Amino acid sequence: MSKLFSPITIKDITLKNRIAVSPMCEYSSEDGFANDWHLVHLGSRAVGGAALITQEATAVSPEGRITHDDMGLWKDEHITKLQQITSFIHQHGAVAGIQLAHAGRKASTSSPWKGNKHIAIKDGGWQTVSSSNISFYDSDEPPAPLTKDGLEKVISDFKDAAARAVKAGYKVLEIHAAHGYLIHQFLSPLVNLRSDEYGGSFDNRTRLLLQIIDAVNRVWPSCYPLFVRISCSDWAAGGWDVEQSVKLAAVLKEKGVDLIDCSSGGAVRHQKIAVGPGYQVAFAEQIKKEAGILTGAVGLITEAQQAEDILLNSQADIILFARQLLRDPYFPLHAAKQLNVNVPWPVQYERAKL
Ligand SMILES: Cc1cc2nc3c(=O)[nH]c(=O)nc-3n(C[C@H](O)[C@H](O)[C@H](O)COP(=O)(O)O)c2cc1C
Repeated sequence: MSKLFSPITIKDITLKNRIAVSPMCEYSSEDGFANDWHLVHLGSRAVGGAALITQEATAVSPEGRITHDDMGLWKDEHITKLQQITSFIHQHGAVAGIQLAHAGRKASTSSPWKGNKHIAIKDGGWQTVSSSNISFYDSDEPPAPLTKDGLEKVISDFKDAAARAVKAGYKVLEIHAAHGYLIHQFLSPLVNLRSDEYGGSFDNRTRLLLQIIDAVNRVWPSCYPLFVRISCSDWAAGGWDVEQSVKLAAVLKEKGVDLIDCSSGGAVRHQKIAVGPGYQVAFAEQIKKEAGILTGAVGLITEAQQAEDILLNSQADIILFARQLLRDPYFPLHAAKQLNVNVPWPVQYERAKL
C-alpha cells in the first residue's frame, strides 16, 4: 500500500491522500474578490485528485496584499464566491483550505507580469507596515513600524478573516508566517530591530504570531485543522534558523496548531539558498522529530516516488506540491498509476483512465 495514497485524519478532517496543493498566488482578483479563474484553477486540482486544495495567500486587509490583484477576505462580500469554490472542491472529494496572509513590507508591489516592482504611494501604492522601518529593497519606500494599535488591528484582521473563512466553507486554515511577509518580519532577527516587547528575544519576536494564533483559535472551529507555514531558515548568518523553528513548532503545538508547513527563505536579499530536489525536506524531518508535530514537506518535490520516499522515511506527513500541480493538475492521478494504486477517477473521465 502506498503511503502517498493513504488517508490522514487531522482533528475531524480526513484527507484521502497525502497530496496537497501548495498555496499559490494567482494575482487575478479585483478588490480581493475571487472569480471564475479561481473556481476553475482550484476546482481542476480537486478533480485532479489532490486531497487538500490550499487557496493562495489571501490578504486579511487591503494593505496586507502583495499586489492590487491579490485575493482577500477582509469583507463579508468576499464570502459568496468563495462558498461556490469550497462547495465544488468538497463535491469532488477534496478538502478546501485557505492560507491567510499579510505581506507587511513586501506589500504595494506590482504583479509578476506587470513588472514585479514596488509601487510608490504617489503612483497608486500604499504605505506598507513592518516590524521595523527597513525596506526589502533599498529603493522601496520604507515601511512604517507597527504601533500597538496597528498590531491589534493586524491580530483582529486575522481573526475576522478566519471567521469569514469558516462561513466560506474552508476546513483547513493555514497562517502564512513564511517567505519574508509580515509575521516573518517579526520572527527574523535580521528584519526585526524593535526594542519593545515584540523585538529582541525569541519570546518577543514570536509574540505577534502567537497572539494571532490565540485570536484565530477563538473563531476557527477546534475540530478543524490549523496549519502554520514558516520559513525554517533565513539562509543567512544571524537569522531565523531551524533550531528556532523547532522551538516555535513546540509552542505552536501547545496552542493547538496541527501541522507546520516547512518552507524557507524570503526574509533578506543576501540569503544563500542551496536549491535542489527536496531541499527543504530536512527541515520538515527535524521539526517532526524534535517538536513531535505533523509536518508538510514542500519545495522541488516533483515525482511520485520522491514523495512516497519522504513519507516512508517519516520525514513528513503530507507533501505540498506547487509548480508540479501547475504543470499537471492531474499529477495525483498519474502518481497513483506510477505507484500501482487504483484511485477512483471522476466518473466523467473514467473512459480515459490509464
Ligand atoms: C505561482 C506561485 C505562487 C505562489 N504563491 C504562494 C503563496 O500564495 N503562498 C505561499 O506560501 N507560497 C507561495 N508560493 C510558493 C509555493 O507554495 C511553494 O512553496 C514553492 O513554489 C515551492 O514548491 P514547488 O517546488 O513544488 O513549486 C508560490 C509559488 C508559485 C510558483
